[in-house]
Amino acid sequence: MTTTAEPLAESETSTDGRRPLSTIKPPEIYNELRRGVLGQGRALRFVSVAIYKHVTGKVPGNLLMIGNSGTGKTTIMNNIQRLYNEVPEFEAFKAVTIINANLLVDVERMEFQPERLFQAVEQRARAMCSAKPTPEELREAIERATICIDEIDKMSAVVAGKANAIGVVLQQGLLTLMEGEQLVFPSYAWVDGEEKRVNLSIDTGKMMFICGGAFEGLYDQVYNRVLKPGSGEKLKTRTLRTADGKVKMETVFILSDFLKPKDLFDFGMVPQFMARFENNVLLADLNVDTLKAILLQSYDSPYLRSQRYFKVMGIDLEIEDLAAALIAEEAQRDTRTGARALRPIFGELVNPFEFEPDRGGHLKEKESGGSRLVLTADMVRKIL
Ligand SMILES: Nc1ncnc2c1ncn2[C@@H]1O[C@H](COP(=O)(O)OP(=O)(O)O)[C@@H](O)[C@H]1O
Ligand SMILES: [Mg+2]
Repeated sequence: MTTTAEPLAESETSTDGRRPLSTIKPPEIYNELRRGVLGQGRALRFVSVAIYKHVTGKVPGNLLMIGNSGTGKTTIMNNIQRLYNEVPEFEAFKAVTIINANLLVDVERMEFQPERLFQAVEQRARAMCSAKPTPEELREAIERATICIDEIDKMSAVVAGKANAIGVVLQQGLLTLMEGEQLVFPSYAWVDGEEKRVNLSIDTGKMMFICGGAFEGLYDQVYNRVLKPGSGEKLKTRTLRTADGKVKMETVFILSDFLKPKDLFDFGMVPQFMARFENNVLLADLNVDTLKAILLQSYDSPYLRSQRYFKVMGIDLEIEDLAAALIAEEAQRDTRTGARALRPIFGELVNPFEFEPDRGGHLKEKESGGSRLVLTADMVRKIL
C-alpha cells in the first residue's frame, strides 16, 4: 500500500466517516468534558464555546480561569487534553501543551523564553503527524495547538506588595504571542524524500490560549473595595432554604458579582495582556455534593483507587453514603485547598485498613467467596 503525504484533511471534506467539526456543538463538547470535571458547569460552558470556536477556526476564544486552589483549574486543562485525544474528529488539534508560567521566563536575564513551550508543542505536533511529516504538515499541527498556562497569577506585576518585574516581562511576551506573531521556528521535516533542516513560519494567532491561576488575595481585595464607604456598590441579598425547610435571607459576597477589569489591573495584571482574553471565567468553590462526587467518582477518586487496591486481596471495599458526605463536609471546611483536602482525610480513614484489613473485626466473609469491608460514618467520626 502506498500513502501519499497529503496535508491534513479539511474538516468539511473528510472521507473517513467522521463528522464535520462544525456539527460537534458546544453542548456535546461540554458533556465530554464533564466526564472528568465535576461541578464548574458555568466555567465548562465557556470552555466548550472556546473549543468550538478554535476547532472551527473562526475566532480566537482565549480564556482566563480564576479559581481558588483545588477547584479544578488544572483538572480542566487536563480534560481539554483528554477531549482532543479521545474525540477522533479533533485529531488535528491534539497538540495540547500545559506548562507553568514560571517556566517561560529566565529570571537571571529578565527575558521571556517561549522556547520550552514551543519545544513541547513541536514534540506533540510531531507525534500526531505522519512518520515523515512535510514542513507544511508540521506547521499546521503546531498552529492548531492549545496552550494552557498554569499558575499565571504567580507572574503578576506585584507579588506580596512588591514590584515583580519578571511578571511584566512574561505578560508582555505572552500578549505578543496571543496577538498573533509570525515566529520562525527551526525544525526538521521531510522534503523530496529527505529529512532536512527547515525553518517553520508559525502564526501564533491561530493557537488557543487558556491561562489559569488562583489569584490569592483578589477575593479580599475586591471585598474591601466593595465594602469601602462610598464605593457605590452593595452586597446582594439571596433567599436561602435551610435543611429544615425554613427560608432565610442572607447577604453574601460572591466575587463574580463584583469583579471588574480594574480589579485585575490592581492585582498586577497588565491591561493589554488582560485584553487578549475573550472571557474571564470564575470557578466556583466546590459544594459538599460536588466534593462527595469527586471523592467517589472522579478519574482521580481516592476511593476508587483504594477499591482497586483491596481488590488485589480479594476484598470488596464499600463506603456508606453518610461516611462519604462527612468526609466531603470536613474537606469543605478547609477552604484553602479545595478538593485536595479529600485525599488526606480519606487516607487517614483507609490507611490502617490497607495495612491490616481485618483490624477491628470489620471484615465480613461473603457467601460468594472473598470478603467485604464497609467504611462507616462511625469510622469517619472517630478520625475527625
Ligand atoms: N471540579 C473538579 N472535578 C473533578 N476533580 C476535581 C475538581 N476540582 C478538583 N479536583 C480534584 O482535586 C485535585 C486538585 O485539583 P486541581 O485541578 O489540580 O486544582 P487547581 O484548581 O488548584 O488546579 C485533583 O486531584 C482533582 O482530581
Ligand atoms: Mg493547579
